[in-house]
Amino acid sequence: MTTPRNTAAAAATGGRNRIRPQSPPLAEPSAWRELALTVNGESVAVRAESRLLLSDLLRDRLGLTGTHTGCEHGVCGACTVLLDGEPVRSCLTLAAQCQDAEVRTVEGLAPDGKELGPVQRAFHEQHGLQCGYCTPGLLMTCTALAERAERPDEAAVADALSGHLCRCTGYRGIRAAARQALDEVHGAPAGHEEAER
Ligand code: FES
Ligand code: FES
Repeated sequence: MTTPRNTAAAAATGGRNRIRPQSPPLAEPSAWRELALTVNGESVAVRAESRLLLSDLLRDRLGLTGTHTGCEHGVCGACTVLLDGEPVRSCLTLAAQCQDAEVRTVEGLAPDGKELGPVQRAFHEQHGLQCGYCTPGLLMTCTALAERAERPDEAAVADALSGHLCRCTGYRGIRAAARQALDEVHGAPAGHEEAER
């Protein structure tokens, strides 16, 4: 049946069927790239889509599920890993941005699986975790703080920790753990023992 609408369309095209342009294929060859990077000290070579997220590379391709994803849009901090020593949200980082870079995840903090690193030990001893969902990201941020050449001041620590959401602990244990780890690596600042313990 001819309706006013398709009559108008037919008139506009001279009565011929219009040929709709083809959509480009979803994954063109140029959308893939060969990536080479280092993850926890090991060389990794993968073929990855340009849009692949670092969090998906780590978890789905490399099986490093210690990196957690929560919000997946840069808010919660659970997915934090170190990229060339600096904390980044792996849910906001493209794997392609990690070409020739060094990525460290929570699995790299105790490589032999036996001895906890100083930051992990501090979280354990200061009760800095409960369910543990936020913990891998916090461990990586605190590791970056501990590895700075000089001990960061309280404001810098608070600023770094503010990028992490924890639904369980109330943050007191987390702050105490960060402080213990920094004490162990950099030495305790004068008068620190009395502060907030
Ligand atoms: S999962 Fe990346 S910031 Fe929340
Ligand atoms: S320990 Fe449960 S979210 Fe932080």
